[in-house]
Amino acid sequence: MLLTTCVFDAYGTLFDVNAAARIAANEPNRETFKEVWPSVSNQWRLKQLQYTWLRSMTHSYTDFWTVTKNSLDYALESHGLHENLELKERLLALYWELQPYPEVSSILKNLKTKGIKTAILSNGSPEMLNSAVKSSNLSGVVDEIISVETVKIFKPSSVVYEQVENVIGCSKSKVLFVSSNGWDIAGAAGFGFETAWVNRSKDPIDRLPNKPAHILENLETIPSFFDK
Ligand code: LAC
Repeated sequence: MLLTTCVFDAYGTLFDVNAAARIAANEPNRETFKEVWPSVSNQWRLKQLQYTWLRSMTHSYTDFWTVTKNSLDYALESHGLHENLELKERLLALYWELQPYPEVSSILKNLKTKGIKTAILSNGSPEMLNSAVKSSNLSGVVDEIISVETVKIFKPSSVVYEQVENVIGCSKSKVLFVSSNGWDIAGAAGFGFETAWVNRSKDPIDRLPNKPAHILENLETIPSFFDK
């Protein structure tokens, strides 16, 4: 089957969600945070995802920035750091310009050279995604930025994956969907995309219906999926 379109998840796939806490931990006068930042970052991410699923299930959608702030509040309080407002503001500011993984720019440029349509499909709000794309110098190499904001439900609702067909106008059978989130891959595969799971941390496969079609260590081999 000839693939024409490559759709990427954003957070954890193109942008390193641990970068905010890692950078803040290495700034001056952060001795306490330096000891616990991996645990804070991990809990921030897990709560962020849980809140998206719970808000979808309970029909209480709010934008991803609010979810991101709520989950950071929880993670900081659970580590006794919630009174450090300067740290909280710094972490949130860093989340607007999360670092991309090292190979992201070259892979996207390579896909563009091959004439492949590229898109981001993310829970992120349009403002968050535009900011991350801009600060990573990816503005010219991503064709479409598709946010759940238009449908007001989070992944893995099939309504979100349908947005790719609606916005780009391509059939799902032409799409390679790339994500580092196993549950996102399961949702996308169930919807009908060909899927590539980027498993940087060598996690086990999620025990969910619809396994990934491909499992990759990073994004390096993505362009080869479009070789004719
Ligand atoms: C996203 C989250 C799932 O970017 O990482 O949609």
